[in-house]
Amino acid sequence: MAYDLIVIGSGPGGYVCAIKAAQLGMKVAVVEKRSTYGGTCLNVGCIPSKALLHASEMFHHAAHGLDALGVEVASPKLNLQKMLAHKDATVKANVDGVSFLFKKNKIDGFQGMGKVLGQGKVSVTNDKGEEQVLEAKNIVIATGSDVAGIPDVEVAFDEKVIISSTGALELEKVPASMIVVGGGVIGLELGSVWARLGAKVTVVEFLDTILGGMDGEVAKQLQRMLTKQGIDIKLGAKVTGVAKPGSGASVTFEPVKGGESTTLEADVVLVATGRKPCTENMGLAKAGVVLDSRGRIEIDNHFQTSIAGVYAIGDVVRGPMLAHKAEDEGVAVAEIIAGQAGHVNYDAIPGVVYTQPEVASVGKTEEELKAAGVAYKVGKFPFTANGRARAMLQTDGFVKILADKETDRVLGGHIIGFGAGEMIHEIAVLMEFGGSSEDLGRTCHAHPTMSEAVKEAALSTFFKPIHM
Ligand code: NAI
Repeated sequence: MAYDLIVIGSGPGGYVCAIKAAQLGMKVAVVEKRSTYGGTCLNVGCIPSKALLHASEMFHHAAHGLDALGVEVASPKLNLQKMLAHKDATVKANVDGVSFLFKKNKIDGFQGMGKVLGQGKVSVTNDKGEEQVLEAKNIVIATGSDVAGIPDVEVAFDEKVIISSTGALELEKVPASMIVVGGGVIGLELGSVWARLGAKVTVVEFLDTILGGMDGEVAKQLQRMLTKQGIDIKLGAKVTGVAKPGSGASVTFEPVKGGESTTLEADVVLVATGRKPCTENMGLAKAGVVLDSRGRIEIDNHFQTSIAGVYAIGDVVRGPMLAHKAEDEGVAVAEIIAGQAGHVNYDAIPGVVYTQPEVASVGKTEEELKAAGVAYKVGKFPFTANGRARAMLQTDGFVKILADKETDRVLGGHIIGFGAGEMIHEIAVLMEFGGSSEDLGRTCHAHPTMSEAVKEAALSTFFKPIHM
């Protein structure tokens, strides 16, 4: 039987695309090499890391955050096995959820490695080496990304001592010390988990800032907060070697500006220096699918690759490597295949870093607006002036809104603070509708909420805040 659509990869891009296409009346098959659906995000990424981030935050809070509220607890005890079991149960509930949704939408699943044989043909080779060929009118490649490693440095991952994000989700005991290579999203999130559980964490980052590409002021504030939490952050340091002398590991780095190199030792080294698109062993070159200079699948504005009827979405194509970006592309490409006007607004994709405090952003940063020569205005409001934040002892951070100087249209929003990842969405919705800072400032916000700081930042963008 020929399918209307075969999706290769069942991560947030692929599974959402498959469900949307089925909802639009297509007969859909999904090819997945893992034994469970959900891709990196559900199995070894976003979902398990958030389970550990929450649990470790609770542990840390019980030990350090309750006393000031008048709650005296005896020193909390860590049961790491139970914490990891909670993480595993969370993953299982989510991947089972995708299986349920596939059944509900009559989507056929094929376990195995998918290969594009050309227009309309996909082969699937299962773990036993058995191959079958499926046919479809359309193919969507949603194979995601994999750990990139450090450019020009050999890293022998054993996922016990030298680990990637995957190993960092299942350490059997809390290491006394951990070096994190890369002060990006993964390094800071997973470094935070193990620091909260008691590891002495050192982050070694090439750039002069953590979270390169994020709003500079926000990144600086987060650096201050993480340092206060005991994480040692070394900036402008290029890692040139990761080795395993004895039972632990070592990291050698040198100042980017030049100078003596240093070697540090730790029980565990987490390498978090980015991810690369998964395009290997899929027959892409033979089938004629063109890649760009960075190894990503080249697509046109409608997600179509160099072959008609073969599309690609998510981490395997250009744009931020974010689950929700992939999801929205999955919906859009399903709509396009169904003859509808699928579309993704890349100017309003939020990004969240789940540290404590959280960092969230949408739209342009101040640095990007400056570089583009856009005349803009800034409004800021600190959580120290927000009543709810004071009541919860969560006053670290601020909201920053950037708007066009002439039209007042909001171009970007940046929040660092407790719950930033939830609060960012009102700015995303505002931007989706082309709203102004005045629109946001005149929208009634419930009192007392942390979100009032968003309203106040908007008020200060177009005129003056009330509570400052
Ligand atoms: P990243 O690109 O965010 O950070 C990697 C960092 O490593 C960069 O700051 C880079 O300057 C540094 N680096 C590279 N080579 C180095 C060297 N030789 N020495 C020292 N530092 C070096 O990549 P990361 O954190 O691995 O995340 C991968 C992808 O996954 C990202 O695209 C990220 O957006 C996504 N992700 C998103 C999450 C979220 O939205 N909360 C959570 C986890 C991952």
